[in-house]
Amino acid sequence: MAIASPIAVLPVAPQELERKIQLRQARIGIIGMGYVGLPLALLFGDEGYEVTGFDIDPNKVEKLSSGGSYIARISESDIQNARARGFSATTDYSRLDEMDAVIICVPTPLGEFHEPDLRYITSTAESIAPHLRAGQLIVLESTTYPGTTEEVLVPILEKKNSAGLRAERPGSDSNGVFHVAFSPEREDPGNTTVARRDIPKVVGGLDDRAGELASALYSTIFHRTVRVSSPAVAEMTKLLENIYRCVNIALVNELKLLCLRMGIDIWEVIEAAKTKPFGFQAFYPGPGLGGHCIPVDPFYLSWKAREFDFQTRFIELAGEINTAMPYHMVSAVSSALNDRKKALQGARVLVLGLAYKKDIDDLRESPSLTIIELLRKAGADVSYHDPYFPFVGRGRKYDLHMKCAPLQNLNQYDCVLIATDHSDYDYQSIVEESQLVVDTRNATRGLDSNKVVYC
Ligand SMILES: NC(=O)c1ccc[n+]([C@@H]2O[C@H](COP(=O)([O-])OP(=O)(O)OC[C@H]3O[C@@H](n4cnc5c(N)ncnc54)[C@H](O)[C@@H]3O)[C@@H](O)[C@H]2O)c1
Repeated sequence: MAIASPIAVLPVAPQELERKIQLRQARIGIIGMGYVGLPLALLFGDEGYEVTGFDIDPNKVEKLSSGGSYIARISESDIQNARARGFSATTDYSRLDEMDAVIICVPTPLGEFHEPDLRYITSTAESIAPHLRAGQLIVLESTTYPGTTEEVLVPILEKKNSAGLRAERPGSDSNGVFHVAFSPEREDPGNTTVARRDIPKVVGGLDDRAGELASALYSTIFHRTVRVSSPAVAEMTKLLENIYRCVNIALVNELKLLCLRMGIDIWEVIEAAKTKPFGFQAFYPGPGLGGHCIPVDPFYLSWKAREFDFQTRFIELAGEINTAMPYHMVSAVSSALNDRKKALQGARVLVLGLAYKKDIDDLRESPSLTIIELLRKAGADVSYHDPYFPFVGRGRKYDLHMKCAPLQNLNQYDCVLIATDHSDYDYQSIVEESQLVVDTRNATRGLDSNKVVYC
């Protein structure tokens, strides 16, 4: 009986890896088939690469293997087309042996005390290490504090591989080395104005060669790559971008609170300020920060800064203001009910929108969850509607356990709170049918109704 020979896994010289990249013959493994990793896998697949997705979640792997999708903006036919072109998914890390490049897209959440929780990165590194081979390119994409690639990822990869392989560094011997880079993901979920390929890709290699290889790989799927001098610079670049957003959102949230007191419409102010052709970028107020990035990433830096006896005061202040926003929304509901001689306790409140921003199916860190929890604590009878979530169960912070209410008979609610301004909502009929609408997103702009309270 013929015995199938194992796939020959030989060390790859950097020139050989570059050649394979040019010919789209490099085999690419992407670890973490989530919001970042799965679309990235599809992009590489579109370009003709054979891509393998690795995930510890067997349900995701099973879904992908049967041609299904679990991310709203990725259709089943996207997955099926990718599979026809060679995409597969697995939980089996031993298949990393076959990969020429491995890209890590695992979560980087915060711990209970707002400290970085790097356990997904460390466990991924431990799983990769036994399968490392000379010449492989390892790229970390997960958002994290400057230093993670060099201080956390590389030491585990070096220590836990039994072949004694080392990451190549400037001036190091190039025998028995693998290559390491950091390249942050910059996607903006739900934003259809910029194609993913048009978002420049920042790349910081541990040495020049790693930077060149990672840049060569990404430039086959992104129109522009931006080389920086080290992984730490690339890590910090991503944090600067997110801190910039976080601080500016806090600024506009604070100014909104002032404008409410002064009887000025902050949205009108922003529209006017936006007409300035230079030096101003519009940010918008809302019910609080959400998503896996803006509420989380800045605290990675403030944690790291403490090692240098440094207080990141802007981050702390922005965090304080943004965290207070859901509380403000609940007070606004209470006060709007009070104006109608009703108490929040016992009031029926419908929260419209669970997702942390419009038109996406992601509720991680969503302020709607905090708002629901606070309303419930205050004794309100809370329902929600969101076309993306038929059910909400146990999350990181809350165990809401609720089913999506139908979007009908809105008159039965004492208050409808617009928390997420999904495009599919018909705001005119929502206002017409409701007794009272509290609008946190300016979604009902232009509808002249005394039922609407902006907050
Ligand atoms: N979602 C975004 O819009 C976005 C944007 C920019 C950057 N990022 C960053 O990208 C990273 C990934 O975020 P995401 O939104 O894709 O997260 P996600 O939770 O959607 O996906 C992560 C995936 O990794 C898997 N995973 C966890 N540990 C693993 C392991 N040891 N081995 C294999 N798979 C493992 C999980 O099962 C999950 O499928 C985070 O650092 C995040 O901050 C996310």
